[in-house]
Order: sequence, then C-alpha cells, then structure tokens
Amino acid sequence: MKTEILEYIKEIQETHIEKFKDTAAEVEQFRIKFLGKNGVMNQLFEQFKSIPNDQKKEMGQALNQLKTAAQQKIEEFKSYVESKEESSHLHDLTMPTDFSDLGSRHVLSVVMNEISEIFSRIGFTVADGPEIEDDYHVFTALNFALDHPARDMQDTFFIEKEPDVNKPTDVLLRTHTSSVQVRVMEHQKPPIRVIMPGRVFRNEAISARAHCIFHQVEGLYIDKKVSFADLKQTLLYFAKEMFGEQTQIRLRPSYFPFTEPSAEMDISCNICGGKGCNICKGTGWLEILGCGMVDPNVLEQSGIDSKEYSGFAFGMGVERMAMLKYQIRDLRLYFENDLRFLKQFESII
Ligand code: DAH
Repeated sequence: MKTEILEYIKEIQETHIEKFKDTAAEVEQFRIKFLGKNGVMNQLFEQFKSIPNDQKKEMGQALNQLKTAAQQKIEEFKSYVESKEESSHLHDLTMPTDFSDLGSRHVLSVVMNEISEIFSRIGFTVADGPEIEDDYHVFTALNFALDHPARDMQDTFFIEKEPDVNKPTDVLLRTHTSSVQVRVMEHQKPPIRVIMPGRVFRNEAISARAHCIFHQVEGLYIDKKVSFADLKQTLLYFAKEMFGEQTQIRLRPSYFPFTEPSAEMDISCNICGGKGCNICKGTGWLEILGCGMVDPNVLEQSGIDSKEYSGFAFGMGVERMAMLKYQIRDLRLYFENDLRFLKQFESII
C-alpha cells in the first residue's frame, strides 16, 4: 500500500497545468479520480482499515499527505482555468459589444414635439403654465358663466372648493390648456404668437375613448387686424404639415365661451383619403380641434384693448392626434407602459 500511495503522490506532482489545456471539465475529472466517492483516496482509506496497527501511523501520515497534495493541485488547476477564461473574455476584441437597451420618447411626447415644431416654423413660441390652477384662470377669465356646466363636480377635479358659487375662488386641476392663454396675456403685450402644450385633467371614467388625464396643445395669436382668414390659413398649414400635403380642412360653426365666432375643424380622413371608412365613420372627415376668434371680453379681462387688437385661438387633443396619425385604437394604451406598444415608436425621434 505504501508504494501505491507514493506512486499516486508522484503522479499528482507530475501532473502539470499544461495537461488541462482547455476546460474545467478536465479538472473535474482529475478531482473525481482522487477525491470522488469511488476515487483513489476513498479506496485507500478502505484498505487502511485492514492494515496492521503498527503500520497505521506511518500509513496514515502518507495518506493525509496524498489527500492534501490532491486538494492543493485541484485548487491550483481551478484558479488557472478560471483566470484563463476570464482573460480570454477580456481580451477578445472581436466579441460583439453588450448593447444596452436605449429608451425612446413616448409617442405623446413625440406628437406634442411635432406639433410645437410645426408652429415654431411660423414664428410661434412655446409657453407653459401650472397644472394646479384656480377657477379664475380656467373659467372666469375665459368668459365661462358662473353656472356653466364645465365648472361642475362631474368634470372638474377640485382641490379646494368654495361652497358659495358666487365666489369662484376654487383651486382645481386644469381641465384645459386654455388657462395658459390667460397667463400669457397677463404677462405679455401683443403681438403674441404662442403654443401651449400640457397635461389636463377631467373627472371621467377611463375607457378606450376617454381618460381622466390627457394632453392638449393650445394656440394663441393676438395682433392688430388678425382675422378669421388668418386662423383658417394657419390651421390649413398645420393640417398639411401634420397629416400630409393632400390633407383638406373644413370648419363647422361651434360654441366655446372664450371665442366668438367659434368653430370645430375637421381634416379629410387620412386613412381613406375622404372616400369614407370605419375610422371616419363613412363621412370622409375627422374632427381634430376647436378654434375661434378670441372673444373681446377675454382680451379685456386680461388687460388687452379689444379695439386695437384681435386674435385667434385653437386647442387640440394630443391623444387624438396620435390616434389619427398612428391608428391607435385605445386611449388606455398610452398610459399602461406596455413595452410592446412603446417600442413601436422607437425609430421616431
Ligand atoms: N379648451 C377647449 C377644450 O378643452 C378647446 C379649445 C377650443 C381651445 C377652442 C381653444 C379654442 O383655444 O379656441 O375643449
């Protein structure tokens, strides 16, 4: 048994790293041979049980020496294989890089930016206003009568509500971006040419066609001798830039408290080209925004002389614009943050 042990020790000592040219599997084979369940060590310990007592001390030492030698060798091989794998990984310049996932703009930001961009090309600047507003800027200054239904609880999220309806001092979440018009008129003298994108809030049940949070872009142009023809031409330019050169517009009379006259604008359906399809419900037209000439009361309320100045305003829903442009059928998709939806707009800056 002694010569057997000495031979194994010799074998271990003579087994050099070069033997394990490639893989960790070879190291494992070596380990199994010496330290595995049916390996050399266990077999020798079995034999050790039956040797005469007077040889036990010497043999025991030799066996322990063999075991330590095997363990040390295995550690040595293991760290060699590991460092080899690591360094080959570090230095392989032909390996593909680790592309990290780049984020992209949300489709609503893309559309809002595009709208602002189109108007900036004809001299409009961008203005911003608070989302938490007061009654004055959202309703009173925009000529809403005290009993106008839009002031109602059904529509508006109130933060602080004044119980006396004759004292409209409520704090609320803005229901439209038209409130920013008032803030701009308060601080700027005409000529004013401004676009106001932003988030608005209405107390509505969430469905495919309605949401309690959505986005609008408001426009305001005030100068001497601004006419309805200017409004129409500006909006025709916008429609063509946004939906393509072939796009036509039509204006239908409407009503808003802050514009007189007021209109709603349709564009020719960009899906069927005006022939009639299920998107335009067979009419060939799609409603896209509200607009009108700024009511003289609104100008006066914000300190602009309505005899010297006139202006037009318009407001559009960003979700609707994006729906029409990219044929999105359900409003809820904008807010669910499902990557399968968001990734479809990755290529658009
Ligand atoms: N504020 C209106 C709304 O939320 C949209 C609108 C209509 C804005 C006509 C305007 C306008 O500036 O002239 O429905």
